[in-house]
Amino acid sequence: MSDKMTVYICTLCRLKDEPEVRPGQQLVERLEARLTPQDREIIAVETVECLGVCTRPCTLAMAAPGKWTVVLGDFDAEKDVEDLVLSLRLYAASENGRVPKKDRPEAFRRGGVSRTPPRRSEASEIANRTTRYSLFATRSFRFSPARSRSK
Ligand code: FES
Repeated sequence: MSDKMTVYICTLCRLKDEPEVRPGQQLVERLEARLTPQDREIIAVETVECLGVCTRPCTLAMAAPGKWTVVLGDFDAEKDVEDLVLSLRLYAASENGRVPKKDRPEAFRRGGVSRTPPRRSEASEIANRTTRYSLFATRSFRFSPARSRSK
C-alpha cells in the first residue's frame, strides 16, 4: 500500500459573485507550480468534478490510505496557495490525517467542512505495520468530542 496522499481539487465550483469564474483549475495550476520534487514524492494532485460542497469554492479533499479524509472549502485560488502547500505537507506527515488545529494554516482552519475515518481494513493494516497507530487498534471509530478536539 502506498502512503502517498492525494489532494482532490474541484474544478467545477463557481464563485458566487462571478459565476462565470471557476477558480479550481487556477488553484490546481498554482499548486502544481509551487510543489517541489520532494512534495511530489508524497503528494499527488488530482482534479475532480464536484465534491458536494459547491457553495464553498475552492473545495478540495485530502486523502491517503489509512488516514482520515478531510474536506475543505473556501480556498482562495490566489491568496491561499501557500496555506494549501503547508496543509498538504502537514497532512502527509501526520500519522492518521488529523492535523492539530493549532498547527493548521489559516485557510485550513477556516475551511473545515468534514472528516471521514479510514476504512477499517486500511486502518488495521497500518496498525499491524507500526505500533504508533494506537488509534487504529480499537475496533471502532466512535466519535468522542473531548478527544476529537485538536488543540
Ligand atoms: S461544483 Fe465544486 S464541490 Fe460541487
